[in-house]
Amino acid sequence: MSIKEKLDPNRIPQHVAVIMDGNGRWAKQRGKDRLEGHHQGAKAARTTVEAAAEIGVKYITLYAFSMENWNRPKDEVAGLMSLLLSSIASQLGDLIKNNIRLKIIGDTSLLPPDVFAQVNQAVQQSQNNTGLTAIIALSYGSRNEIVNAVKNIVADYKSHPQDIEKFTEEDFANYLYTKDIPDPELLVRTSGELRISNFLLWQLSYSELYFTNVLWPDFSKEDFFEAVYNYQQRERRFGKTSQQIANLK
Ligand code: IPE
Ligand code: IPE
Ligand code: MG
Repeated sequence: MSIKEKLDPNRIPQHVAVIMDGNGRWAKQRGKDRLEGHHQGAKAARTTVEAAAEIGVKYITLYAFSMENWNRPKDEVAGLMSLLLSSIASQLGDLIKNNIRLKIIGDTSLLPPDVFAQVNQAVQQSQNNTGLTAIIALSYGSRNEIVNAVKNIVADYKSHPQDIEKFTEEDFANYLYTKDIPDPELLVRTSGELRISNFLLWQLSYSELYFTNVLWPDFSKEDFFEAVYNYQQRERRFGKTSQQIANLK
């Protein structure tokens, strides 16, 4: 029985977030340029989106470029930006055909104008699609997202500060880039690194974490299904006892 067949269709996570890591090491192992790793990584991203759609995941968030990644060598940043541009351009047709809705989270004002334009065009053209929502975290930093949210909240409540008393966690979530997107039930990180790297700090509060040593360019559909299978073996207690969870079933 394949791992995909072993999945419980009633416990497919709605939202999976992925830290796609290990492109550089994959290239180094092969004596290749880091950008070659990123190219293979872009293929793995496409495969993973397909795998997610196949099993009925509704949202997949892919961490493609962090706020901190702006500090990489100029050549690598430029290479990543042009890869992004060409990947979106070449995949837009398939995206539309496959009913995938593209969204971007992050500070897109920092992107080069051509990348910004291409990204916006793809988002707009796919906005009425009703299948999987693929969210690309681009120029994304979670602390930056939270600080921006606070700034906007302060501006919105300036004229009626007394209303802040009624402000809830749900209200706060509505100020984040991920407004209207449910929190991920599952986070996957490849390449054996055991950290969050400024990704979705608020949204991952109760996510199940899954780490694999597979380097991102090697990440296959099977690897994705394996992560979901592993997730399905977990007991999500949300602070309650195991007994309480059992009684709910
Ligand atoms: C992930 O791979 C891609 C990005 C962060 C853009 P890395 O480039 O971080 O690969 P390693 O960690 O150096 O192997
Ligand atoms: C995190 O990977 C960002 C992305 C996958 C886009 P990094 O490779 O940049 O993370 P650190 O710096 O090693 O934590
Ligand atoms: Mg890395």
